[in-house]
Parts: sequence; C-alpha cells; structure tokens
Amino acid sequence: MSSKRALVLAALLLFFIFFLYPRSQTPLPFEPEPSPGVDHADGDNPLTNQPDSTPKLDASPPPLISTGSETSIKQQQTSILNLKNLPLKDQLAYQFPYRVSSKFPAYIWQTWKYTPANAKFKEEFRVTEASWTEKHPNFVHEVITDRVAVHLIRHLYSSVPDVLEAYNTLPLPILKADFFRYLILLARGGVYADIDTLALQPVTDWISDHFQLNSVGLVIGIEADPDRPDWAAWYSRRIQFCQWTIQSKPGHPVLREIVANITIETLKRKKTGKLTVDHEGVVEWTGPAVWTDAIFKYFNDDTYFDMTDSKGNISWANFTGMSEPKKVGDVVVLPITSFSPGIGHSGAGEVDDPMAFVKHEFEGSWKPESERIKNPGEE
Ligand SMILES: *[C@@H]1O[C@H](CO)[C@@H](O)[C@H](O)[C@H]1NC(C)=O
Ligand SMILES: *[C@@H]1O[C@H](CO)[C@@H](O)[C@H](O)[C@H]1NC(C)=O
Ligand SMILES: *[C@@H]1O[C@H](CO)[C@@H](O)[C@H](O)[C@H]1NC(C)=O
Repeated sequence: MSSKRALVLAALLLFFIFFLYPRSQTPLPFEPEPSPGVDHADGDNPLTNQPDSTPKLDASPPPLISTGSETSIKQQQTSILNLKNLPLKDQLAYQFPYRVSSKFPAYIWQTWKYTPANAKFKEEFRVTEASWTEKHPNFVHEVITDRVAVHLIRHLYSSVPDVLEAYNTLPLPILKADFFRYLILLARGGVYADIDTLALQPVTDWISDHFQLNSVGLVIGIEADPDRPDWAAWYSRRIQFCQWTIQSKPGHPVLREIVANITIETLKRKKTGKLTVDHEGVVEWTGPAVWTDAIFKYFNDDTYFDMTDSKGNISWANFTGMSEPKKVGDVVVLPITSFSPGIGHSGAGEVDDPMAFVKHEFEGSWKPESERIKNPGEE
C-alpha cells in the first residue's frame, strides 16, 4: 500500500471514528443492570468495593485549564505547558479521566497488518475477525493497520508527547502492537481483542449476571495458572493475566499505570541505547509480564484502595484455581476458562463451557518463533 493511500485511509478512519460516531464514547453499549446485582466473590474481599470509594483519582482532575470567560489562547498554552510539568501518570489522568459509573463503550478494537478488505488479509483470520462482528452487531468494530495506528495514536496523544515518542521508539511491531492496545483502551475504552481470537459469547454477557456494570471498570482473564514447581520454566509469572483480550472503560488506572510504565522504560532504554530485545524482553517490556505486574500494583496501591481492613497483599494466591469470576475493587478477574478454554493445562475448561467467552486460536503462531509464548502443553 502506498503511503499516500495509507494517509487517506487513516484520515477516513479518523473521520469515521470521531465524527460519524460522535456519541459512541458514552452511549450504545449495555446499560448497567438496574437490578440490585450481587457481587459474587465480594464476600471474601477485604478491599473496599464501593464504586465511589474505589478509585480515589476518580474525582475530576484539578482544573489546569482556566475556564474563565477571558480565557485566551495564550492562557491555554500556559496551562498546557504546566500540564507537561506534571508526572506522566497525572498528565494521563487529566487527558483521560476515569469514571467507574460510565458505560463500557461499544467499541471492538483489533490490529493487523491489513484490514479484512485487503486480499492479503489471512484466510484463517476471517472467521475469528467475523466472530466479533457477528456477536456484536451494535458495536463499532475496527481493524486498525499498523500505519493507521500511527496516525490514530498521534491524534489521541498529541498532548502527551512522551507517549508518542515512546510509541515511535519501540523497535519491533510486536512491541508497538502491545502498546497500542493499552493506548487505545486508555483513550477510548471498549474491548481490545487479538485478530486470532474467536468470540464465543457476546461481551454484554460476560459479567452482567454477576456484577453491576457501573461498579466495574476493567475485565481481565487469566492466561496461565501453572500449579507446578517448575512453573518459571514456562511462564514469567505464577499467575499470568492475558492481554489478548481486555475490556475497559476509558481512563482506567491500570491502563494509566501500564502506559506510564512502558513510556518511561522505553525512553530510558532509548537514552541508554538499550533498544534491542529477545523473547523474554518482549514479555517483560510490553507483554503479559508487565501487564500482570501493573494489575497487582494497582490491587496493592493505597492511592486507590482503602487498606485499613486489608488482611494482606493481593497476590497470585488470590486467583489460583478460580472457577468463578472474582471482583477486586473495580476489576473483574475471569476464571482461566473464560479467555483460555481448551488449552489443556492450568485447569482450564473446554470451549463449550458456559464460562468460555473467547478462544485464542492460533496463539502466537503468526509470531516469529522467538516471540512465541512457551506452552507447557507442548512438552
Ligand atoms: C488474598 O489472599 C490472602 C491470603 O493469601 C487473604 O488473606 C486475603 O483475604 C485475600 N484477598 C482477597 C481479595 O481475596
Ligand atoms: C515497570 O514495571 C516493571 C515491572 O514489570 C518494573 O520493574 C519497573 O520498575 C516499572 N517501571 C516504572 C517506571 O514504573
Ligand atoms: C505488600 O505490598 C507492598 C507494596 O506492594 C509491599 O511494600 C509490602 O512489603 C507487601 N507486604 C507483604 C506482607 O507482602
């Protein structure tokens, strides 16, 4: 594809996303159930589960930009300069405020080298890609190409230049693809799903029977729960959360955390000339390892949670062997069967299990050998 054509496509896409669907940030999606839902696994949760007290940063950020009637362009420029002096996480919180009571946006984001309209789009992905459209007829479903992603990220993060610099600095497509999912969910929310994932059940059915949607801001699944002494030979964390499928509301603090982490670490590597990477490096830099760490960091962060009644740190032990979804604060962790059915290890159920929501079909088969996740099932 010529770069001119890519630009035109990017412009069209931006137009499509931001003008034709001006209201889709708030509307469309599923309404929070008005019924007095019971938060299943909450009983054993020492953390505060009240949506209002969960994310303390939920409150509107300080009014950095003057709203006075005589606001001039000059004043706005000064305030934006001030904004850039804030720590990165605060800049992100300002740009992408989080409200747990907002609705889950009705977006499905996927990325691939080509869009399905392109003849080069892999045949084996047609079924998986189509499964998301079929299961979500009222959603905006976008397959973003690498080139379009560059423009979209530039548009969304123009006021946070460190993030743009980090995105442009990442030396491999897989690192950029990892980073992109966190960036798009932080800015717009919705569902991110790898192109090789098959939607088994509509996202609207994932948690609505168990939890009130206006008290949940992030839905994640488990990639591996290797209950064996040599787990470290196979996975980088004892419990590894997956990042091939994530649902979030815009601005969720875990996304803020991981975007800040990847940005800071990438710019640090750039400065010290350490931009080369192996398989282990991808997992730790942008992949499931750092994603898992960001989630646990959030669970144990007293900025967000009232720890006064806490009986101890939240760790992998709190999620091992789960067969029902579990809610910690405003995060729902689904059991391993939900996003990893049929993997044949870690106690995962089969694809026809009522808790199976998404199947990761070709798990890394399209990645170079060196970047594949090791799978104990392959022994
Ligand atoms: C996490 O596990 C610890 C013990 O391992 C327990 O004390 C604590 O209550 C658990 N927390 C949650 C949220 O399940
Ligand atoms: C990013 O996360 C990793 C752990 O996954 C941690 O070692 C590192 O210190 C974090 N960096 C920043 C800047 O938070
Ligand atoms: C709990 O987590 C905090 C922060 O992550 C850490 O400083 C502390 O040592 C941990 N406590 C225990 C008992 O593991």
